[in-house]
Amino acid sequence: MEVIIKTSSEEAGKEAARIVRRQILKKPASVIGFATGSTPLKLYSELVALFQSGSLDFSQVIAFSLDEYVGLSPNHSQSYAWFLQEHLFGKLNIVPEKIHAPDGMAGDIAQHCEDYEKQISQAGGIDLQILGLGSDGHIGFNEPGSSLASRTRLKSLTGQTIADNARFFNSPAEIPRHVITMGVGTIMDARHCVILANGIKKAKAVAAMVEGPVTASLPASILQMHRFCTLIIDEKAACQLQRTEYYLWVYKNKPEWQKA
Ligand code: F6R
Repeated sequence: MEVIIKTSSEEAGKEAARIVRRQILKKPASVIGFATGSTPLKLYSELVALFQSGSLDFSQVIAFSLDEYVGLSPNHSQSYAWFLQEHLFGKLNIVPEKIHAPDGMAGDIAQHCEDYEKQISQAGGIDLQILGLGSDGHIGFNEPGSSLASRTRLKSLTGQTIADNARFFNSPAEIPRHVITMGVGTIMDARHCVILANGIKKAKAVAAMVEGPVTASLPASILQMHRFCTLIIDEKAACQLQRTEYYLWVYKNKPEWQKA
């Protein structure tokens, strides 16, 4: 896993945007998986700026959302479909038909999840998956204990994730308890994973993910076994890492051709 430590979350977002840009320039019809949450917001505003300045064209990009709350329709202001529309898709020239997302209102959730997996493979698989990191080490909404081989399915959120997400809802009763999420196995199939984490609240999960054992108790740790994973963090999120100097050295001495 490549670990990139930036001085701020803004710089981390810019670095991630350079990676997305390089991917789309290399393959305009890239299949990209998008996460929601606070962490990728800077990345998304950078992508919007690149589009608005004419430096990046999203017209061929195929998008897949990582997850969705069960029981929220795409028109609900806290649904992830709404979030991505507000912060990203609605501000780009991405073609609506090329945007895919789990449907939180699906009647037959198991069938819907199977169909979502099929849509991903029919699109040729995910080229680049954007991820955030839960403070309990989840990726997507694969909570601790999730099968490391799991595919898109229904998951129950942990108390900690419900508490972390409470800030977006008016009352605790409104917070959905279930989600549809790409599985850990689905994420591991992506050709490149870029995972972002910022702030002191993520420091413990970052250290466990990068330098701890690979375990289903911290699903993000499986990314140690991913063929091409880039972790981009700010200094606060990096503060519990043991090999910081090495990560900084590697980044500084990166060969020109490897740079984003
Ligand atoms: C969101 C998602 C989650 C978040 C994680 C971090 O689509 O799948 O894994 O990335 O909960 O959330 P934030 O960025 O709000 O701290």
